[in-house]
Amino acid sequence: MNPFILEPYRNRELFCDRELETRQIVDYLSNGRNVTLISPRRLGKTGLIYRVFEEIAANCSDIDTFYVDISSSQCVEDFIKLLSESVVSVLNKQNKISAFFKAIGGLRPLITYDAVTGAPEVSMIYRNDKDKELTLKGIFQYLETHKRKVVVAIDEFQQIREYEGVSMEALLRSYIQQLHNVRFIFCGSKKHTMTDIFSNAKKPFYESTTFVPLGKLDIPTYEAFIQRLFGNGGKLIGAENVRQIIDWTRDHTFYTQTLCNELYLSCSQYISSTDILAAEARIIAANRDRFLELQRLLTPAQWRLMTAIAKEESVSHPTSVSFIQKYRLGSGASVSKNVKSLVEKELILAENGEEGVSYSVYNVFLSRYLEKA
Ligand SMILES: Nc1ncnc2c1ncn2[C@@H]1O[C@H](COP(=O)(O)OP(=O)(O)OP(=O)(O)O)[C@@H](O)[C@H]1O
Ligand SMILES: [Mg+2]
Repeated sequence: MNPFILEPYRNRELFCDRELETRQIVDYLSNGRNVTLISPRRLGKTGLIYRVFEEIAANCSDIDTFYVDISSSQCVEDFIKLLSESVVSVLNKQNKISAFFKAIGGLRPLITYDAVTGAPEVSMIYRNDKDKELTLKGIFQYLETHKRKVVVAIDEFQQIREYEGVSMEALLRSYIQQLHNVRFIFCGSKKHTMTDIFSNAKKPFYESTTFVPLGKLDIPTYEAFIQRLFGNGGKLIGAENVRQIIDWTRDHTFYTQTLCNELYLSCSQYISSTDILAAEARIIAANRDRFLELQRLLTPAQWRLMTAIAKEESVSHPTSVSFIQKYRLGSGASVSKNVKSLVEKELILAENGEEGVSYSVYNVFLSRYLEKA
């Protein structure tokens, strides 16, 4: 078995560190606080939620945990469906489903189970919007009266801003603030939107949660972890080669794991610098079609800008004369417009650092591909 996981979470042995964050989140939740977890994409938020849930299961036997990923939802109805499916999948094991549906009101939901995964699918027919609100309220009320304490993690929470014709924030907040038995983890990667939801004084969720920002893994800890996992599989890798992996993937967990996974499956006993270069080349080759497709979707000016940023690795002043001239990027106004649009498309990552905002190509493999262009 390849120990370098490419899914959010499998078990503690294959999940590197995050001990401090895990403890913090568990402490906040057990002290009655709700938590907002924010990081750029693919750093390990979802994995951390599962790690926290595992910790809760091991140490807090009176708490049930519910995980809902709302990234696919477009409206309140979708939200209710995903939330109730999460609740049903936990209650199923406790034989409490009929009590749950009785509690959430007069609607007759239909439950089916996926033949392969066994995951429940809930469908409900609403007569009007009021029905939806009552159902949502009913779900929270049920959780409030659940015999055990409840933690609900809502992943990709920023998605609620995409719902049309409803202020989902106001609706959720009005129910959530009445709950004593239920604590929440709100998780998301769009920093700007998440910050606006939770720190804007004019918005319903203002200051209702404690922020846990998630950064990159501590490099020495991650290096030791990588070396150990290779070693456990009888594969030797020197410290300087582990550093080479972390450098090339910029310590961005998903990319680091992918390179390690590729190396693990392709190398037998000793892992050399040449093996690493070859694995990098295979990864780039495997992604090339996707990158070309992306190039077709962008304007030539946007692609040139991405390439220029990749070549610099990170840029603090993309509209500066020197940067624009060096890469012949046209006018400052068009660069500024393109930066904004590429940040919105999550192709460029804007990060606040000590020297203000810096921009880099979000996908590390794409960045490595472009820097050679
Ligand atoms: N602590 C860790 N140890 C080992 N691998 C990890 C760790 N954290 C994350 N990963 C790796 O990074 C990948 C991305 O993690 P995860 O899906 O949890 O990130 P995310 O922040 O939720 O991303 P997104 O915003 O895209 O949903 C995982 O599939 C896994 O391969
Ligand atoms: Mg995630």
